[in-house]
Amino acid sequence: MATMADAANPPVLDQLQRPLKDLRISLTDRCQFRCNYCLPAEHVEVMRQHSQSEQQLSFTQITAVVKAFAQLGVNKIRLTGGEPLLRKNLSNLIRKIKSIKGIEEVALTTNAGLLNPVLADLVSAGLDRITISLDAMEADKFAQITGSQYPLNNILNSIEKCLATEIKQVKVNCVVQKGVNEDQIIPMLEHFRGTGVVVRFIEFMDVGNLNGWQAEQVYQSKQVLQMIAARWPFSPKPANHIGEVASRYVFDDGLGEFGLISSISEPFCQDCNRARLSTQGEIYTCLFANQGRSIKTLIDQPDELLTAISTIWQHRQDQYSAQRTSAKQNTLPKVEMFVIGG
Ligand code: GTP
Ligand code: 5AD
Ligand code: SF4
Ligand code: SF4
Repeated sequence: MATMADAANPPVLDQLQRPLKDLRISLTDRCQFRCNYCLPAEHVEVMRQHSQSEQQLSFTQITAVVKAFAQLGVNKIRLTGGEPLLRKNLSNLIRKIKSIKGIEEVALTTNAGLLNPVLADLVSAGLDRITISLDAMEADKFAQITGSQYPLNNILNSIEKCLATEIKQVKVNCVVQKGVNEDQIIPMLEHFRGTGVVVRFIEFMDVGNLNGWQAEQVYQSKQVLQMIAARWPFSPKPANHIGEVASRYVFDDGLGEFGLISSISEPFCQDCNRARLSTQGEIYTCLFANQGRSIKTLIDQPDELLTAISTIWQHRQDQYSAQRTSAKQNTLPKVEMFVIGG
């Protein structure tokens, strides 16, 4: 499909010839959950550093940034966080983004705790796809992982409600931590098989500096595959698009598909076409970056903004996951996932 890049500007490529296609926007660095792999509750000092509302980009500013990205080839926007539903009137932002030429799809990643009351508004604003983070089917385990007493059943009900809307695709992201929740893999598929929900199992990653990641805590995708294969036959399925992070598998009995996101065991940097915009208006070109570059002061100067983003992308060399175990690996503090979105 044609994008603005075809019409007005040549597609912008980074140093590894990767185009810019996908922008992930962190709407807030706050969250009401405290997942142990993301924002562990014991790190209270970080909670005090959360952005104040006056530091956050407004919806008008975000829209201006998206316009610039669309002109450089971005056609897919993912709204994320922290927890994006903590921002009021999110449907207004979705409506604005959907009206931007070149944007084909707006998706949301959420923990779904606040979804129920706003779901209808989000759908009528044109939300195309939704991904819900859920790591357990047992209430105790859910509470242990999320550091929250929020009722698991409400999340499950919200997921069911999503399926009854015009949202084109409902996914569940499950981060698998060895010794914590690999026993939830089969129950999760038992629950969601045949409903249309695509569950993706994600290898626990060394994002940020707070989650105490150790290689031994990774439950590798190949182990997930073996576990599922012992229960149901399935076959691999081709990717939806270049740069898709998940490998896809379809159940042979026709009851849907699941995915594996293997950032640790099989990095996918070579096709990575994702940029990230932080709550305070910095652009990050990798999930594991040490630093972002602020474009906040350029937002009301469209030409300068376009040039700045284009220059940032053209200088990009990131391939952190592919170099994770090599000498090139850098050891500086990394940005936290809740600051730039998953
Ligand atoms: P789809 O458009 O549905 O394919 O969405 P997505 O998979 O791009 O988005 P989602 O937010 O669901 O991403 C799933 C998970 O994959 C994230 O939460 C991260 O854990 C991981 N992930 C996404 N993008 C990257 C990336 O660029 N690098 C790495 N290492 N992991 C990523
Ligand atoms: N490893 C893998 N995935 C993570 N996420 C957050 N932290 C990590 C991590 N350390 C994922 C969550 C959520 C998305 C926003 O990011 O599952 O779906
Ligand atoms: Fe919140 Fe998502 Fe991080 Fe969990 S993974 S603490 S729900 S931002
Ligand atoms: Fe992209 Fe960085 Fe993830 Fe590699 S590690 S896929 S470059 S975000």
